[in-house]
Amino acid sequence: MTTTLDQLLSDYRDQNGASYQLWRSAHDSLPGGNTRTGVHVDPFPVYTQQGEGVHVTDVDGNRRMDFVCNATALILGHAHPDVVQALQSRASKGTAFFGPTPIEIELAELIRERLPSLEKVRYCSSGTEAVLNAIRVARAHTGRPLIAKFEGAYHGIDDPALVSYVPPVTDELGPAHRPNPVLSSRGLAPGTAKNVLVLPFNDADASEALIRANGGQIAAIIVDPLSTAAGLALPDQAFLDALRRLATELDIVLIFDEIVSFRAGSSGTQGVYGITPDLTCLAKVVAGGTPGGLFGGRSDIMSLYDPTNGTPAIPQSGTYNGNPLVAAAGLATLQGMTPDAYRHIETLNNRISDGLRKAFDQSNVKGCVVNVGSLFRIYFTEKPPTNYREAAKDNKSRHRWLYFYLLNHGIVSRQGGCVPVPLTESQADTLVDTVAAGFDEMPDDL
Ligand SMILES: Cc1ncc(COP(=O)(O)O)c(C=O)c1O
Repeated sequence: MTTTLDQLLSDYRDQNGASYQLWRSAHDSLPGGNTRTGVHVDPFPVYTQQGEGVHVTDVDGNRRMDFVCNATALILGHAHPDVVQALQSRASKGTAFFGPTPIEIELAELIRERLPSLEKVRYCSSGTEAVLNAIRVARAHTGRPLIAKFEGAYHGIDDPALVSYVPPVTDELGPAHRPNPVLSSRGLAPGTAKNVLVLPFNDADASEALIRANGGQIAAIIVDPLSTAAGLALPDQAFLDALRRLATELDIVLIFDEIVSFRAGSSGTQGVYGITPDLTCLAKVVAGGTPGGLFGGRSDIMSLYDPTNGTPAIPQSGTYNGNPLVAAAGLATLQGMTPDAYRHIETLNNRISDGLRKAFDQSNVKGCVVNVGSLFRIYFTEKPPTNYREAAKDNKSRHRWLYFYLLNHGIVSRQGGCVPVPLTESQADTLVDTVAAGFDEMPDDL
């Protein structure tokens, strides 16, 4: 028996009346009731009341397993006791000071231990800020204007990052091996597109040709090595190796945006693939569920921030840089991420992903699953995409259907998601069984 999207939406409305009322009243204060584009849901979003472990409870009292975990940020799940304790203890002693606190050193040391490419670290308040600072210091270090980024990739909302961020796949994108820069937002500074070179992910030859053609002008190549927002796509080792080789040869700063991909292991994706970037951007997990970020890398590049010899080449202030509350949550989170914890979430992720592959095999629904570390992604495509344009062919109507089916059945997942540490085997199996049951009810004509 199939269930139509209209039926799912009708059940969704029935289950979420209080959320709907809140969303209506939010329109009085927030444009479209929204203050974070990525969380907009048509017809209306669920308003969360609280989270605990793998569960979130909404304002209607619905309790669901959460595989989104604030866009992969909460690797220890919601309200982990160690993080809560660290925050409470820190908050009771003051939340912010106009001056350094010891914990900023402690967290930086732990980050450097896990990610040796970060010889020096600077804090900021979000992933967007980490990226904008890394780009700025790369331009300052090289004296060059261009930033090379990969088609579709998300790196936050600074101007260069909003070039070719999940653009609609139309002729405007140009040939796959030589993508045009496309503005993904209005209001960007004039000349933004001119200063961004767009590269095709996972195509080492085409990327090399474009990089060589513009080499003397490129300050930085920025890459999310797992292409997490442009469709989780596993990078070819040879592709990442080529980026490293070219950047070294042409004196370009190689920036890894590991804001999501850091989850792949204790040394991030750079550890998994054995690549040493010049700079790395981090946020989400390293801020332990609070608003924070950091960036860092080669000492000679990061020395442009050093104020000890007079005015630094780059002033980077920020009222909440290195904020002790953020650092306490980040430190507690990273301390909780022991080798066993990484093993646990990776094992469960394999269990989920294999289970989902089996569910595809046993149903009439065609699709595949990509998984790495504790991240997994469901595709309604014949084979796993290798780049943005392939990922963009995914069937959005099927994802919309599955999203509401899972919400109505007690699961938050957006085209897949991530595994938090408190997840158990039986909860992982519940996800697989629920998706499998969903496949049986999914209409063919979506
Ligand atoms: C790969 C990547 N880079 C940058 C960002 C921006 O981080 P933030 O939302 O903390 O500004 C995100 C956020 O989702 C991201 O996924």
